[in-house]
Amino acid sequence: MNNTETFTHAHIAEATAAIRKASDLTPRVGLITGSGLAGLTDEFREAVSIPYREIPHFPESTVAGHPGELVLGVLEGVPVIAQRGRIHFYEGYSMQQITLPVRVMRALGAEVLIVTNAAGGLNPDFETGDIMLIRDHINFPGLAGFNPLRGPNDPALGPRFPVMAGAYSPRLRRLAQQVAAELGIEIRSGVYVGLAGPTFETPTELRFLRMIGADAVGMSTTSEVVVARHGGMRVLGFSLISNVARPDEIEAALETAGEEVEELHDEVLEAGQRAVPRLMRLIRGVV
Ligand code: HPA
Repeated sequence: MNNTETFTHAHIAEATAAIRKASDLTPRVGLITGSGLAGLTDEFREAVSIPYREIPHFPESTVAGHPGELVLGVLEGVPVIAQRGRIHFYEGYSMQQITLPVRVMRALGAEVLIVTNAAGGLNPDFETGDIMLIRDHINFPGLAGFNPLRGPNDPALGPRFPVMAGAYSPRLRRLAQQVAAELGIEIRSGVYVGLAGPTFETPTELRFLRMIGADAVGMSTTSEVVVARHGGMRVLGFSLISNVARPDEIEAALETAGEEVEELHDEVLEAGQRAVPRLMRLIRGVV
């Protein structure tokens, strides 16, 4: 499959059939776990895991901290399906490949998609460990022509020109705010900008992203949300602020130390793992 081909009904049906062989659950909610957040599936009851390599047309996750399997199970009495480990564009897969799992969740019956990710905090009020409810996104690869919907459109899957205003369901966001208040979990709200990665941003890029209205920056999520909306799913998104992205501080540190900025990926994974219990309580409450 090259970068301009799209998956058809037949591809999606083959993947769906392989999953139905392993579990007859009809999921209502889909979940994608971000960096360090795979633990979110640990509390599923009656869980069945299917490695991506056993599902036709599924790409394999190649990043540390991102296991590659679909998990079906029950959470708070609700049948759910989770991508334990997402696939990223920077791994070399096409936009269509990295979003195939969303198509498959939809085909299995999921009506709601909950996306999670680890992100750098651009908003100067944000601290490491904060949870940000995603209010809107900037789909940077999409703006540059890398949209998962590029190519022929199958009207059975969704419209040619989907509307992205309101992509992050206002109703689900209100629900999440309510649940957070009831549980005494403080959450932020803001705009997520998705980049292609895998490089972290330069200080000047960070200033630019802040200037165009982003509160958090990461390397995922926006393409998945495009496909979910195309398929008519309602979406709820949480960014875990795994590190703060403060250009002035980064530049000042470079001036004094004259050293390269430290490895960030481990920090991102650790912050994710620490936030799992809090995020889990929130997601349980919403479900
Ligand atoms: N930048 C981009 N992606 C990220 C970051 C970041 O600072 N943190 C976690 N994912």
